[in-house]
Amino acid sequence: MTASGTSGHGDGTAVLRKSSRILSSLGAFVTKGVTLEPREGNPEFRIVETRTGIINSIGLQNNGVEVFVKRELPDFLNADLPIIVNIAANTVEEFGRLASYLSDNDLSQLIKGIEINVSCPNIKKGGLAFGIDPRQVERIVRTVKKNIDSRIIVITKLTPNITDITLPARGAIEGGSDALSMINTLRAMAIDIATGKPYLGNRTGGLSGPAIKPVGVFMVYECFEKIPECRSREVPIIGIGGISTWEDVLEYIMAGATAVGIGTAWFVNQDVFNEIYKGIEKYVIKNNTTIGDLIGKAHEA
Ligand SMILES: Cc1cc2nc3c(=O)[nH]c(=O)nc-3n(C[C@H](O)[C@H](O)[C@H](O)COP(=O)(O)O)c2cc1C
Repeated sequence: MTASGTSGHGDGTAVLRKSSRILSSLGAFVTKGVTLEPREGNPEFRIVETRTGIINSIGLQNNGVEVFVKRELPDFLNADLPIIVNIAANTVEEFGRLASYLSDNDLSQLIKGIEINVSCPNIKKGGLAFGIDPRQVERIVRTVKKNIDSRIIVITKLTPNITDITLPARGAIEGGSDALSMINTLRAMAIDIATGKPYLGNRTGGLSGPAIKPVGVFMVYECFEKIPECRSREVPIIGIGGISTWEDVLEYIMAGATAVGIGTAWFVNQDVFNEIYKGIEKYVIKNNTTIGDLIGKAHEA
């Protein structure tokens, strides 16, 4: 699936629709983060390139949930792809109102899942402060679940900016999360040595791309290893972070992921979804195996 924030809200599907090859390689489309009220995002510059990835501080720029439902969600009407809406909020109560708005509108049948972002490093309120507190994560997930139709699945997106990711993961599961996704970006900074100042308007941002893949793989491994609901796949894990090749995907699957999301690589290679799909297909046929058999293989004694 796409990783939230890297393929737009509804506008991104225009690109996807142009290419049936991309569409047929995707399992789901995850939107950029949607909030209750519109947000302008952070001051420029908002993205800086590093040797092994990018640092972004977009700050959840979006038009707010009302405009999303009225003007952006209709873009998905003919997409023929499960749509997962990524959401963010400043308070638990706001998460509840946002979820209820998404669940109860004329187009809500288009929404297959809600991904709760409790892990944005680029906003002042909420964001990381939620994501590192297991009890807050639990409260948010419980509130979202309470406010939506039970047919909509809930995914909790976790932050890597924590020593032990299994703690908020357990909080999410206790709150009723149907799946977990990990990881969001890692807090980072780049300095322009000509001016002596940080490049980004927000000074700090979140690192994504190849540099963070080993961190993501480790965190998926940890949750699969230590949390029985993850190991049994009752609460499946969506592996995200630095994936650019089919070999990267296999690492995530062997660590314990059931599905994967791809973001930064899609900025540099429009064929990435298709290439990865084909690469995995070839691997599975050549080795006479299935993805199901490979999930969590790295944990076998
Ligand atoms: C420009 C940009 C915007 C992002 N916006 C969001 C967002 O709105 N919500 C969210 O949960 N994650 C957001 N992310 C994080 C990605 O979904 C993903 O977790 C992260 O980039 C790691 O994956 P990657 O290395 O494949 O890009 C954003 C990432 C980037 C690069």
